[in-house]
Formats: sequence, structure tokens, C-alpha cells
Amino acid sequence: MRECCFKVFSSHTKLVAVLCLSVLSFPSFISAQESNAGEKQFLTSCGVCHTVEPGAPNRQGPNLRTVYGRKVASLENFKYSEALKKGDWTWTEATLDPWLENSQEAHPGTVMNYRQANPEKRKLVIEYLKSISDAK
Ligand code: HEC
Repeated sequence: MRECCFKVFSSHTKLVAVLCLSVLSFPSFISAQESNAGEKQFLTSCGVCHTVEPGAPNRQGPNLRTVYGRKVASLENFKYSEALKKGDWTWTEATLDPWLENSQEAHPGTVMNYRQANPEKRKLVIEYLKSISDAK
């Protein structure tokens, strides 16, 4: 009887411990999943033309590591179009969203030709760029 009680008790403790652990790790699990989804979306949608590793070379488009909060066309080692060079906005959610929806409509004359009609996908990419720019 004693042994049995002990068994019930100990398996209960384990159960409680497992439950506690999963509750505690749930939020970080979710955010890890989200940033992973953002990274995947970025690689699929932008990775052909843009790198994000610090110091990685520009491709057809400039490195976007620190783009969130950066003034448009401000990387010294990239040859931007006149359309962007004469711009004076900063890249934030408000300026990135219309740019990603239709870059050539947002800023006629740019050589980036990109359209993403799905607002969820644009949001994922913007959140991802923000997170890596904050991390520098
Ligand atoms: C087919 C290639 C291509 C794709 C795909 C592409 N871009 Fe670009 N991107 C460019 C080029 C080229 C420029 C430079 C445009 C210019 O100078 O007019 C640019 C410029 C930019 C800039 C301005 C950077 C600065 O320093 O001012 C941002 C922001 C940007 N792209 C974000 C994105 C994001 C986010 C995606 C994916 C959702 C994406 N681009 C997809 C080619 C691309």
C-alpha cells in the first residue's frame, strides 16, 4: 500500500513537472516558431537578391541586416537607382509594407521589381527584418 501510494505520488509529481515545463516553455516555443517562419518567408521571397548575415556581400539588392530603421539608399557600397537615392524616408513597417506590396508602384523608377499581395507574408518578413536589425 505504501509503495503504491509512493508510485502514484511520484508519477504525479512527474506529470506536474512535465506540465509546468511545457507551460513555461510555451511562449518561447511560439516565438521561436514565428521567427523561424519569418526567416523562411524571407529566404523564399527575398533571399535570391538580398543577404542578411552581417557583412555578407550585396547581391542584386543590398544587404538588409540593418535595414529596419535605416535611411533609404544609405549603404555606401551599393549602387542604388536614382529613384531611391533621391528618397528621404526611413525603412519602418509603414514604409516597408507598401514597398513589398508593389515596389515599383510605391517608388516608380526603382529597379527592384517585387510584389507580395498577401499581407500576412509581408508582415512576417517585416517582423523578421525588424528582429535582426535590432540584434544588429
Ligand atoms: C529580384 C531581386 C529582388 C527581390 C526578389 C527583392 N529585392 Fe529588394 N531590392 C532589389 C534591388 C535591385 C534593390 C535596389 C533598388 C533600387 O536601387 O532601386 C532592392 C532594394 C531593397 C530595399 C531598399 C534597401 C535600402 O538600403 O534602402 C529594401 C528595404 C528591400 N529591397 C527589401 C526587400 C524585401 C524585404 C524583399 C522580399 C520580400 C525583397 N526586397 C525582394 C532586388 C530585389
